[in-house]
Parts: sequence; C-alpha cells; structure tokens
Amino acid sequence: MSGQAGADPVVAWFRAQYADDPAGIWHAPGRANLVGEHTDYNDGFVLPFALDKGVLAAADRGPDGTLELTSRQAGRAVTTVTLADLEPGSVTGWAAYAAGVAWALGRAGYPVPGARLAIDSDLPQGAGLSSSAALECAVALALTQLAGLDVPRPELASITRRAENAFVGVPSGIMDQSAALLCQAGHALLLDCRSGESDSVPLNPAGSRLALMIIDTRARHELTDSGYASRHVECAEAARALGVSTLRDIEDPGALTVLKDPVLRRRARHVVTENERVLAAAARLRRGDVTGCGPLLNASHASLRDDFEISWPEADVAVDAAIAAGALGARMMGGGFGGSVIALVPALVPAGGGPPRLAAAGWGPVAAVMSGPGRAGHDPDDLAAGPSADPGDPVAAIQDAVRAAFSRHGWPEPGFMDAPPSASAQRVW
Ligand code: GLA
Repeated sequence: MSGQAGADPVVAWFRAQYADDPAGIWHAPGRANLVGEHTDYNDGFVLPFALDKGVLAAADRGPDGTLELTSRQAGRAVTTVTLADLEPGSVTGWAAYAAGVAWALGRAGYPVPGARLAIDSDLPQGAGLSSSAALECAVALALTQLAGLDVPRPELASITRRAENAFVGVPSGIMDQSAALLCQAGHALLLDCRSGESDSVPLNPAGSRLALMIIDTRARHELTDSGYASRHVECAEAARALGVSTLRDIEDPGALTVLKDPVLRRRARHVVTENERVLAAAARLRRGDVTGCGPLLNASHASLRDDFEISWPEADVAVDAAIAAGALGARMMGGGFGGSVIALVPALVPAGGGPPRLAAAGWGPVAAVMSGPGRAGHDPDDLAAGPSADPGDPVAAIQDAVRAAFSRHGWPEPGFMDAPPSASAQRVW
C-alpha cells in the first residue's frame, strides 16, 4: 500500500492491531436532516443530507468464522466474535453495531466471511449526527464487498437498520442508514419511508449565499432512553385511535380533532404537519428556493418543542439566539432531548469565489465518537476557531450570539460545524 491511503491514521491503526495492510477502506458519512423529524417510523417523509464527516472502516478477510474489531476511539483492545454465535445481546458497546451488521447480513441471506476491521471516526458521538448509522454502513459496505456480495443500497439500509433495532436494541427508524447509503453530494434525499422510494433534491445553499450550520448544544441523550421510544408508542396509539395503520395516512390536520386525548392529538399534529413541511421544503428546493426553507425550519422547531415535546433547553436557546442574530431558520435535529441544532445562515462568499465556508466554524473541544483520541488530521478540534474574527461576517455574528446566550446560562460552550451536503458511503481506497 502506498500514497495517501497508506498515510491515513486508520491504516496505521489497522497495521498496529493486525500486523498487516488492509485490503480496502470504506467511508460512510454522518447525516444532518433539513426537515422531517420523527416521521420515518410513522411511514412519512424525511429530507436528510450526508455530512462531510463520518466513519472509516479499514478491512480485510480474516480467520474463517470470526470477526475481529478494533476502534481508534475505543482504544487498543481487539474484540473477537464468532460469527456463528452472534445473537442479540451477545456483543455490547460500540462493537455491537459492527457485529450486528454481520448478524443482520447473515439473517438476510448474505453470509459474510471472517474479517478484520479497524474503525476510525471524525464524528462526535451523541451529537445527533448518526455516528452509529455511519459505523453500521461503513462496516456493511466493507463486509459485503470483501465477500463479493452486491446488495442493493435500499436493502442494505434495511439490513443495517435491523442490526440497530434487533441486535443492538435501539428502536430507530430508517432515515439515518438511508441517508448514509443513498445521499448524493449537493443534494438532500427526499425519502418516502412507506414505499422506500427516494429522490435526490438539489440542495445548494452556497448558490443563494447561504450555508447550513450545525450547532452542537453539548447536551447528550441516548435513543435507548425512554423519551424516543415513548413517542413511537404514542404515535402508534394515535394511529389506532384514528383507525389508520400509521399517521402517514392522515393528511388533513383537521382530522385530528376526533382524538380525545390532547397529548396524542399534539403528537399526531406534529407528524402530520411535519410531513407537509418536508414536501413543501422539497418543492422549494426543486425551484432553487433554499431561502424559502427557513420558515419551514422554524415551524418544525416550534412543532417539535410544543407538540412533540422533545426539544431541550439548550436547543431552544440556540434556535432563538441564532434567529435573533440573523439566521433564516433553525431547529433541533434528530431524536430529541439532546444533540444538535441545524441553522440556515447567510454566508460570506470568499473573495476568490467558490462555496462560502463558515469561516469561524469550529467544534471546539468535543468528546469524539466512543470517547478517546480523535482522528489525527481529521479531528473535530481541527475546526475549532475560538472567538470569531470578522465582525462583518454574518456567520461569526450568529455564532457569537449563540455562545453569549450559552454563557449567560452558564452552559458549556457550544460547537459549530458547517454542513455541506455531501456524498454517501463509498470505498475510498
Ligand atoms: C433518530 C433515529 C431516526 C429518526 C430520528 C428522528 O435519529 O435514528 O430514525 O427517527 O431520530 O427523526
């Protein structure tokens, strides 16, 4: 192995653990979601896009019948599992996500051979950017391609979701794995979670002198905690009370007045109106109207905060401060109760042309995925810029406003990251 790939820290990690070169390196991105939250498991619509950060899996065939796993963020130990013995609960911690993929592939009729994997990530864990789905999808591509298996990507999304739901025990929907496997650079993915049909919708904020900014609120919450699962239950109850199989079947929010329970009525109203917002955003993007998505982000946040009741204080403060300082729209993102906010912000176009970058963007010090050292050369800390420099920079003004608001509350400083719509999972070497 030579050149750039040979210098990647994930290769050095692979060599250090297995005393050999990998046969290939696969990358899967984290995701942001423009709009469409808690709609996926209600058979509704989502509009995510892939980030330019994610998980790398360096891999090679290994001893028959075993999977060997190591992660740069988790430390030196190699976890070895016997493929034939895999069953839900048999592997714990981060390795369960990778082993679960091998298990789910086997259950779907794609048995994988023995393999060795080394994992590296530049996504912060718990920030609501789907580091778990990125891990699953990078491993899924590595294992299937090492085995010479050609699994259609929508099917691979279902298989990796099954790994997370049935093997790891996290009750997530299909959005994150679909985003990691199906998104195109410069586009968002309009996904119909009922039919599985998807369409790439142009998402080019730079063309409108805008940018998408992620604000990591530093508040953390796991999907295994009760809030996420209880929303599944409430949505299913609302659908039952309405006599439909899922809330996707309701298109008119007026139809929800028959729900007697005010909590169920609010939950259902969020899902029904959120589906409308996704379709409206996709229509605006198809017309090149990125600016027009701003109000939809704000309406989504209000609905998630007031009707679905899954926002958290840091998200509400970040959204309000960003909008007051000039963001066109902002909302909490992901499962709720912790993680990140997405904001649509005006951006300076660099003097030499090219896409506007968030000059003052930076995660600041974050706990990298699975804790421990980040990826050298790709570490989130590399983006840290501290206090912003240019007072005429609208992005700097928004970041300063959010920092100041957090400081007034005595909260840890938030992290900032630009989020250019990027490509889906692929073999990178
Ligand atoms: C998490 C889940 C997704 C989705 C979102 C909420 O990210 O993994 O499937 O349900 O929450 O939209």
